[in-house]
Amino acid sequence: MTDFAATDYFTDGATAQDPYAYWEYLREQGPVVAEPHYGVVAVTGYAEVQAAFRDVESFSAVNAIGGPFPPLPFTPEGDDISAQIEAHRHEFPIFEHMVVMDPPEHDKARSLLSKLLTPRRLSENADYIWELADRQLDEFIANGRCEFLAEYGKPFATLAIADLLGVPEEDRDEIRRNLGAGNAPGSRVGALDHEPVGSNPLQYLDELFSGYIADRRENPGQDVLTGLATARYPDGSVPPLLEVVRPATFLFAAGQETVTKLLSSAVKVLCERPELQQRLRDDRDLIGPFIEESLRFESPTKIDFRLARKTTTLGGVRIPAGTTLMLCLGAANRDPRKFDNPNEFHADRRNVREHLAFGRGIHTCAGAPLARVEGRVTLNRLLDRMSDIRLDPANHGGAGDRHFGYEPTFLLRGLTELHIEFDAG
Ligand code: HEM
Repeated sequence: MTDFAATDYFTDGATAQDPYAYWEYLREQGPVVAEPHYGVVAVTGYAEVQAAFRDVESFSAVNAIGGPFPPLPFTPEGDDISAQIEAHRHEFPIFEHMVVMDPPEHDKARSLLSKLLTPRRLSENADYIWELADRQLDEFIANGRCEFLAEYGKPFATLAIADLLGVPEEDRDEIRRNLGAGNAPGSRVGALDHEPVGSNPLQYLDELFSGYIADRRENPGQDVLTGLATARYPDGSVPPLLEVVRPATFLFAAGQETVTKLLSSAVKVLCERPELQQRLRDDRDLIGPFIEESLRFESPTKIDFRLARKTTTLGGVRIPAGTTLMLCLGAANRDPRKFDNPNEFHADRRNVREHLAFGRGIHTCAGAPLARVEGRVTLNRLLDRMSDIRLDPANHGGAGDRHFGYEPTFLLRGLTELHIEFDAG
C-alpha cells in the first residue's frame, strides 16, 4: 500500500501517473491541510479552492505557476507581506505575464487582451477552426490510425492560436515547427528546423511578435495585429511595445498544452466507451456537456498556486502571510461534496459546468471560449469523418489490460501519447 504520508507530490513519479488517490488521502484530513515537504498548504475542497481564487485581497497570484519553486526570494515578515512581494516581484518566474500579476497591473494587461478577444474575432476564429480540423484530419485520415497528440492535438491547438492572433498564413508553419507541434507532411525542411528555439519558447515568441507589432505601428493595416498594435490602455495611454506583445504571446503558453490535454482525454473516453461514442454520434448536443465533463474529470491544469499576502483563514484553517497555497483543481473537481460519484464520467452530469478547470475570479481563463470551440469542433469532425474510433491495442494493451502514460509534471494532467485506430467515413 502506498505510504501517502511520505509521498512528495512534487517529485513522486507514481503520483504524477495517478494523483487522485493522493488527493483523496489529503482531503480525508480536511479540505485545507499542510503538505509536509515544502511547507505548502494543499487545498482539495471545491468550496475552499473557489474561495481562494476569489479572495484577491488575501492571496496574490505572484507564484501561480511555480508555487514553492524556486523558494521565496525573501523571508516573510509580519501579517502583511504585500510590500515584500512588490519589492521582489521581478524575481518570480514569468513575472512579465498576466497570470502572475495582481491588480492594478493585472487589470491593465487583461484589458489589452479583451481588445483582441472580441466576440467578432472569436467568431471568425471559430470559422477557421472548422477548416483547420479538416486540414489536420486530412494529414492522416487515410492511414486508419494516428498518434492523436502529435498528429492532431498539438498542431491544431497551436494553429488555432496563431489564427486568433492574426499571424500571417505564411509564418504559421514556422510557429508550428518551433513550438514543437511537428511539421505538416510534405512541408519543406528549412534551415530553421535545426535552430533550437532555446530554453524559452516565450522569448522566441516575444521576439517574433515584437517584430509584428512594431511593423503594424509603423504601417497600420486592417488586420488583427494592427488592432493589437494600436490598442490603448483604458486611460488612453499607449502601452510600451512589450506590454502589448506579452499578453499575445502568453496565449501560446497557456493554450497549446492545455487544449492538447483536454482533446486527448476526451478522445480517450470516446474510445473506452463505445456506447457513449454512439450517443454522441446520434445527439451532437451532448458534445458540449461531454467536453465540460472531460474538463472536470481530467482537469488539464491540475494545480494552481497562490501566495498569502495577509494572514487570514481558509476553510477555518489559519493561513499565515507568506504561505504558499496549492490549489488542487483536479481534486476540487472530484470533491464528493460538490459532484455526485465524482470518480465516474457522466456526460449528462447536472452541475458539470460548475467545474473549476478554468479557474475563477479575476484570472479566470481568458481562452476558455476558444478551448470550448476547439473541443466541440474536434469531436464533431472526428465523429463525422471516422467510425468505430478505438484504442490501438499494440500501444495501450487489450481490453482489461489497458495502460497509458501521463506527463510527469506537477502542474498539468495529460496523456503523453494516445494511439487510436478508426475506420474512415
Ligand atoms: C482546456 C484548456 C485550458 C485550460 C484547462 C486552462 C486553464 C486555465 C486556468 C486554470 C487559468 C487560471 C490561472 C490562475 O488563476 O492562476 C487560466 C488562465 C489563463 N488562460 Fe487558460 N486554459 C486553457 C486554455 C487556454 C487557451 C486556449 C488560452 C488562449 C488562447 C488560454 C489563455 C489563458 C490566459 C491568457 C490566462 C491568464 C488569465 C489572467 O491571468 O487573467 N487558456 N487558464
